[in-house]
Amino acid sequence: MTTISSIDQQFDVLIIGSGAAGLSLALRLADHASVAVISKNRLEEGSTFYAQGGISAVLKPGDSFDSHIEDTLAAGVGLCDPAAVKFTVEQAPQNIQWLIDLGVPFTTDQHRDGKRDFHLTREGGHSHRRVIHAADATGKALSTTLVTHARHHNNISLFENRIAIDIITGKKLKQHSDTVHGAYILNRDTEKVETFRSRCVVLATGGANKVYLYTTNPDGSTGDGIAMAWRAGAEVANMEFMQFHPTCLFHPEAKSFLITEAVRGEGGKLLLPNGEQFMHRFDSRGELAPRDIVARAIDYEMKRLGSEFVYLDISHKPAAFIKSHFPTIYKRCLEFGYDMTKEPIPVVPAAHYTCGGVKTDLNGSTNIKGLYAIGETAFTGLHGANRMASNSLLECLVYAEAACQDILGQLKQKATLPTIPHWDESQVTDSDEEVVVTHNWHELRQFMWDYVGIVRTNKRLARAKSRVNLLLNEIDEYYGNFKVTNDLIELRNLAVVADLIIQSAIARKESRGLHYSLDYPEASSTDTAKNTVLCPQTK
Ligand code: FAD
Ligand code: SIN
Repeated sequence: MTTISSIDQQFDVLIIGSGAAGLSLALRLADHASVAVISKNRLEEGSTFYAQGGISAVLKPGDSFDSHIEDTLAAGVGLCDPAAVKFTVEQAPQNIQWLIDLGVPFTTDQHRDGKRDFHLTREGGHSHRRVIHAADATGKALSTTLVTHARHHNNISLFENRIAIDIITGKKLKQHSDTVHGAYILNRDTEKVETFRSRCVVLATGGANKVYLYTTNPDGSTGDGIAMAWRAGAEVANMEFMQFHPTCLFHPEAKSFLITEAVRGEGGKLLLPNGEQFMHRFDSRGELAPRDIVARAIDYEMKRLGSEFVYLDISHKPAAFIKSHFPTIYKRCLEFGYDMTKEPIPVVPAAHYTCGGVKTDLNGSTNIKGLYAIGETAFTGLHGANRMASNSLLECLVYAEAACQDILGQLKQKATLPTIPHWDESQVTDSDEEVVVTHNWHELRQFMWDYVGIVRTNKRLARAKSRVNLLLNEIDEYYGNFKVTNDLIELRNLAVVADLIIQSAIARKESRGLHYSLDYPEASSTDTAKNTVLCPQTK
């Protein structure tokens, strides 16, 4: 018999995260199981909502699965898992159809014969037009549709403004088997810690890009799922491959506003401050080379010229075309004084996507029984050393569907949930020094930007490692003495993921994809290319 207090909740499945990954899974599961979805802010507030370019899938004659697979493998520079790539690419069309059936308003255009069809755009690394989109605000259309459906499903309980602190496993309860039993969740409104008990827990918490000073991501991308999984004993892989998006608007108040790669896909050119095109000097694919190459080329030119930005120019296209394809970006640039129909806009790279994450199989299952990771939190093997544009939302959808089947199989087996002790606050007090949290938050993001950014060296990584060690100790001590708050939970997680990134970067003695080291500028032979898998047990 278990006693359930007023702050205990029990569900078949607990999904932490309400982005494309979390809500797709919730909707797929809900006809068969009771589901709770936790979100640390509003349901819509995750990277998904801000996605611009679109979702890649083979949708028209002339394109093929083989071509999508080949492009993904090439962008991943020898480290993609071919099975994961094949699986994802082949599941893509049916997942897009699922979204169309849910009512996502993808952009259409009219053919010469008068028929309307979905418009497909192009982005870096893709050899065909295969990115389905809703103008330049695909994420908003997707997120709004998923949230609307989730709000109307009786079997989905939605909990906003709740932040997961840690998952609860058998190991934590001093049991023999390492099975997941739920999570401790801070209710940000009541400031009380609640216990959620469940047969399966799914981490769908997005990426960790807030670990860098400049990022395209919303504030909540603090790698919580990766840190929680690591603390619980899950394997984490390829954290050195943090992706920098080449083009964010350069303006002190623009907060790294993204300018979609589709602008280059539709003919936008990158220019030096003197108006000269430069990408052809770095890659024969020019502006449409994979992202790691374009971001590094921009970084190189900015450092060479001492310039704070380069330009992106699509003003040679008709104004009506620009306004209809990129309405959000056009409007936002105007707010900052740039009319992209008439002039080039200043752009810089910023941290954008976490290619590594919690290691899973093709069902999203981790090495801990009952614990799943999907979406940007997960490492499925799809992206290798560099993610190809618009393969991320696709990964969220495909692995949500796969995890659903696996979870339903697990739920068929009989099991009872153990008693879980309530969160113990008897030994802690309210913080008297919030400044420690804000100071460490800034320090961490600054040194990660300076020492663990687009170009790395042994010396810079060693400096970063000694600083992160100090922060980890200080944060641990602080965490042990004071009541948990949202900011403290996020800082604690950021420090863990920063450490995982640095450890992984130090371990890779070559340059490959997104990891570029001046000390090892060449890639090792493709035959010896390996993932960097970190295991908490062997730490
Ligand atoms: P998210 O959408 O980030 O959702 C994470 C969820 O987890 C949120 O609900 C958050 O509240 C919750 N959460 C996090 N931690 C906790 C916690 N501790 N407790 C409770 N809840 C928590 N990819 C593409 O494929 N195509 C694109 O066009 C594209 N454009 C992009 C543009 C921008 C500006 C950005 C930032 C990213 C873009 N990406 C794009 C990447 C893509 O959007 C993300 O990888 C994807 O949306 C991640 O979805 P997700 O469901 O994994 O996580
Ligand atoms: C973009 O629109 O450029 C972002 C696409 C992505 O990150 O996949």
